[in-house]
Amino acid sequence: PAPGWAIDADVVVVGSGVAGLTAALRCTAAGLRTVVVTKASLDEGSTRWAQGGIAAALGDGDTPGQHLDDTLVAGAGLCDEPAVRLLVTEGPDAVRRLMATGADFDRTEDGEIALTREGGHHRRRIAHAGGDATGAEISRALVEAIRERGVRTVENALVLDLLKDDRGRTAGVTLHVMGEGQHDGVGAVHAPAVVLATGGMGQVFSATTNPSVSTGDGVALALRAGAEVSDLEFVQFHPTVLFLGAGAEGQQPLVSEAVRGEGAHLVDADGVRFMLGQHELAELAPRDIVAKAITRRMQEQGAAHMYLDARHFGAEMWEHRFPTILAACRSHGIDPVTDPIPVAPAAHYASGGVRTDLRGRTTVPGLYACGEVACTGVHGANRLASNSLLEGLVFAERIAADIAEHGPHREGARQEAAAPKVLTLLAPEVRREIQRIMTRDAGVLRSAASLTAASDALEALRQDAEEERKAAEPGVDSWETTNLLCVARVLAAAALAREETRGCHWREDRPDRDDERWRRHLVVRLTPDRR
Ligand code: SIN
Repeated sequence: PAPGWAIDADVVVVGSGVAGLTAALRCTAAGLRTVVVTKASLDEGSTRWAQGGIAAALGDGDTPGQHLDDTLVAGAGLCDEPAVRLLVTEGPDAVRRLMATGADFDRTEDGEIALTREGGHHRRRIAHAGGDATGAEISRALVEAIRERGVRTVENALVLDLLKDDRGRTAGVTLHVMGEGQHDGVGAVHAPAVVLATGGMGQVFSATTNPSVSTGDGVALALRAGAEVSDLEFVQFHPTVLFLGAGAEGQQPLVSEAVRGEGAHLVDADGVRFMLGQHELAELAPRDIVAKAITRRMQEQGAAHMYLDARHFGAEMWEHRFPTILAACRSHGIDPVTDPIPVAPAAHYASGGVRTDLRGRTTVPGLYACGEVACTGVHGANRLASNSLLEGLVFAERIAADIAEHGPHREGARQEAAAPKVLTLLAPEVRREIQRIMTRDAGVLRSAASLTAASDALEALRQDAEEERKAAEPGVDSWETTNLLCVARVLAAAALAREETRGCHWREDRPDRDDERWRRHLVVRLTPDRR
């Protein structure tokens, strides 16, 4: 549909988590006319659900080099080392700047930043806030800063597509906005620089820790715009998500790795600590190893979940250190002070995304990406716990510096931007079909047979839509469903193509890591006829 209204800017930032708001604040500080557009309210999205914290070498005796080593080991041979090096060396100061912006982190009695441990970290390196409400505090501080500095924002604005000028450069985005007065309906922000910070795609699976807004919109936009996308097969399943029943759907409560970092044990129904002997770090092994061990034990015992036992923390520690998790468990009738917590893995984080260089530039000129939507190369085949908030922060700052340094190209935005082709949109009820297919056939355990079945079923949904059997009117739900199908198809195809087991990509039929053939990234760029 043709845009009914338009805003002009130097930079449009799409998304309002740690990455988007940091980019917007830095661009504004550099004097760039910046607009933030976000799908729901400014504080919606994954950042505010982050519990454990933000990893950085802030503690005595810790160094960026040690953080680098842990990140590379977790990434299972696929991290891009220069990107990790930037992350860990620029990370500590980026966290200090976040504090200067107003984020209040927990302190020790001596006034130092309190640090905890999580899977894959050999040191206490995770800064946290409000005990286990780190993301909520970061979100609060950044939203407040955005409002104080008068950064222009448009809420309830679902991004549709990238606008390009006649030289193929970024010229802005189209949006579908609901309930925002003068900017209702389909409109556009014309800007020569677009920063995608739309977060993840957890909603591609039935059960996920991600909020309902995580529908892969940024990756889908990038694919339709002809940008390169990489590593989509590496979906991280968080090992310890509160188990609410076999058929539970949608966003599930997370039980942070930090609970294990403070000494909780994973046990089976017989009370056996099954991580002992599996890895030198036991419960604090990297996330993929713990998720696999839990899944295996569940299969061996025909159990729907395992348990996380932290009764020994006692009531006071639970209340002080993990108030969010305590409240979530209690609201579901489980008291972690007296009961082991039933847990099972659920989809948590997209390690892949829109491919960028070290300045956050994608392969489309003027289009940037940071945060979960991006694939900067820092996560490889398995993200190290609590590196995601840090990545959002560090690469958002790098993007703002790049735009400020080189200046947004101007001619494109002034020209009449070409609208993308009109898509056939999927009916919202197809969303659950996509989630069921992906959960059954492309989830934690995969094989050539299951991934072929997933690809065929997704293709059938696409054909149904093309033939208008399941097509829908334009609306947020139908756009989200269309985006979910787009990213699910690429994810399933990438997982089928990668004939090995590596990091969080677990192929039953290819159980070994194959460095000779597969120590490389799978990069996807859709040709115009497939967008
Ligand atoms: C957690 O608190 O366990 C989540 C940390 C992360 O996903 O990095």
